[in-house]
Amino acid sequence: MQTVTTIKNLAAVIKHWKRLGLSIALVPTMGNLHAGHLKLVSEAKAKADKVVVSIFVNPTQFSMGEDFDTYPRTHSQDAALLAALDVDVLFLPGVTEIYPSPIRTLVSVSVISDLHCGVSRPRHFDGVATIVCKLFNIVQPDIAFFGEKDFQQLAIIRTMVRDLNIPVIIVSVPTVREADGLAMSSRNSYLTPEQREIAPKLYQSLRAAQQGVLAGTHAFSHIEQHERQLLRLAGFAVEYFSICRVTDLLPANPSDNDLVILAAAKLGKTRLIDNIQFKIKALTVDSP
Ligand code: PAJ
Repeated sequence: MQTVTTIKNLAAVIKHWKRLGLSIALVPTMGNLHAGHLKLVSEAKAKADKVVVSIFVNPTQFSMGEDFDTYPRTHSQDAALLAALDVDVLFLPGVTEIYPSPIRTLVSVSVISDLHCGVSRPRHFDGVATIVCKLFNIVQPDIAFFGEKDFQQLAIIRTMVRDLNIPVIIVSVPTVREADGLAMSSRNSYLTPEQREIAPKLYQSLRAAQQGVLAGTHAFSHIEQHERQLLRLAGFAVEYFSICRVTDLLPANPSDNDLVILAAAKLGKTRLIDNIQFKIKALTVDSP
């Protein structure tokens, strides 16, 4: 595996691959890699000739007071994990390589970026969309991989690609979880042992809400309120817990079929997000 830190050196590698007619996959990350990230990498390996993994803790997606400075940076450990998976290039640029001067151009996906995580993290998704757009222009991948764990982020990237005609296929990968159901996240390392015990309750609440919907409860707001209350009693500060339509992430009606329940809650200083996606009615095959 080659580690490349400059856009210029990466461009030379990409040009060479393109000349050979090889397909290129990109897996964008912020590092501190865990099994969730590695699942994206192995899917990418299966789908493209060459795989680039980027590790860049992107300052423009963090607000003042968030964890940009303390975000875990474990580059040598990450590089060993990626080398073991036979990744072709680790792209590891510094902040001044990506943002050499104050950025004047932002990619902003309206409406959807202001919902859910966008309420407590204003401009977060502008930072995400902008860095992902920049990485697409730098790496010029044919295909890029994103986790369903960050469901709203995935929806925003799909919208950006569609609206701006970006010629990259977006592939989503299901959430990888710990044995007790907690969604893997770099931020889980912030949890104290006591908080780590409580953390799986977020996914348990999502599953309970899903069961409520599937059992035919039409009062979605009652389900949401009930689960929010249980999470509060368990020690979470709930940011949102919303039964939504997959199509636009707006509140779902009982007549909608494709649903996702999105949740974010804090345990102490650690902010956890998770979601569960499902259909109300099983697809029926028309009889001949
Ligand atoms: P990061 O949090 O490092 O996540 C990188 C990718 O890994 C994202 O697509 C995320 O959805 C996926 N991922 C994280 N945890 C996962 C899990 N448990 N199972 C499956 N996939 C998981 O998301 C970002 O970085 C950044 O916002 C980024 C897209 C790199 C832009 O800076």
